[in-house]
Amino acid sequence: MVYLQETVTPLLAWYDGHARVLPWREHPSPYRVWVSEIMLQQTRVEAVKPYFERFIGELPSIRELAEAPEDRLLKLWEGLGYYNRVRNMQKAARILVEEYGGEMPADYDVILSLPGIGSYTAGAIASIAFGMSRPAVDGNVLRVLSRLEKNYEDILKQSVRRKFEQEVQEIIPEGRAGDFNQSLIELGALVCVPNGAPRCGECPLEKLCGAHAEGVELELPKKTPPAKRKIEDRTVLVLVSDNKAALRKRPAKGLLAGLYELPNLEGRLDREEVLAFVKEQGLSPIRIQELPAAKHIFSHIEWHMAGYAVKVEEPEPEQFAEHPGRREKDGIFFVEKRQMEETFLIPAAFSAYTRYFRERF
Ligand code: ADE
Repeated sequence: MVYLQETVTPLLAWYDGHARVLPWREHPSPYRVWVSEIMLQQTRVEAVKPYFERFIGELPSIRELAEAPEDRLLKLWEGLGYYNRVRNMQKAARILVEEYGGEMPADYDVILSLPGIGSYTAGAIASIAFGMSRPAVDGNVLRVLSRLEKNYEDILKQSVRRKFEQEVQEIIPEGRAGDFNQSLIELGALVCVPNGAPRCGECPLEKLCGAHAEGVELELPKKTPPAKRKIEDRTVLVLVSDNKAALRKRPAKGLLAGLYELPNLEGRLDREEVLAFVKEQGLSPIRIQELPAAKHIFSHIEWHMAGYAVKVEEPEPEQFAEHPGRREKDGIFFVEKRQMEETFLIPAAFSAYTRYFRERF
């Protein structure tokens, strides 16, 4: 088996020559590292860059994050998905304001205790921003280590991750913890890549690598196949009245919690069923048109969607967003189409249909 200690010097030398220049690597304050690591959890580096710059530009400190209205926060995150990530960041920011003077403390256990921060993110913040000797083992690092050690254990298991964390912990070089963790991440992102052949010819660890020695790089890492996604039929409505369109707020818990959506119903409804629903909402339909079917894939569910555009007569005043008597729980409400894009975050699951707001019926 590879003696992991031997990887340290070649990895750091390689990192010094090959590390990408990335916005969060400049001035790596705890807040910047934190924001970038949360964004990078489900999103590619290139896609994260503009989001990171805008987020930090608009909310430059933990205190400003803590105080931002939720709708503004969600708009800043629009397109990154997994919105609970940013909601958890705000919860954590509020704790930091209330209990730690608005700063991330240099205390690993406190960092790890914050909402939305697991051992990977805590390790990244501790090592990159504070120089503490803590491992930061993400999917990139799990892949690199599985191959290096020719280890066939399931990397989705907590116990396997913990074992790798332990191993990294033991070799983190004094004074270069952040660079060392990032060198493993960077090697996984640039050389020991997923989906396709790793670039072993460019790898500083080629001679140390157990998988490469036996030509089994592509068999690793091992992951249990994820459970099959559940398929749900839904019918989505583009409900419009002149320059206004209908939205609804989703329940506070569950899929796309608390986000705005186009009104939609379970199952595949025909025209008559849709018109009956529209009338039940106290609206008077003028015209209905079928829209193309669409699909959206979440991590555990797939929505197979039918769509209808329904033009309705001017709704009652209390069905407008700004009406003082309107309560969120009352369901469907109408907003100016222009205001909708500026103010309301509508998740990507509906993007096949939101574009019809721009069309006339
Ligand atoms: N992916 C996750 N964390 C990263 C980092 N700090 N740099 C580059 N890619 C990353």
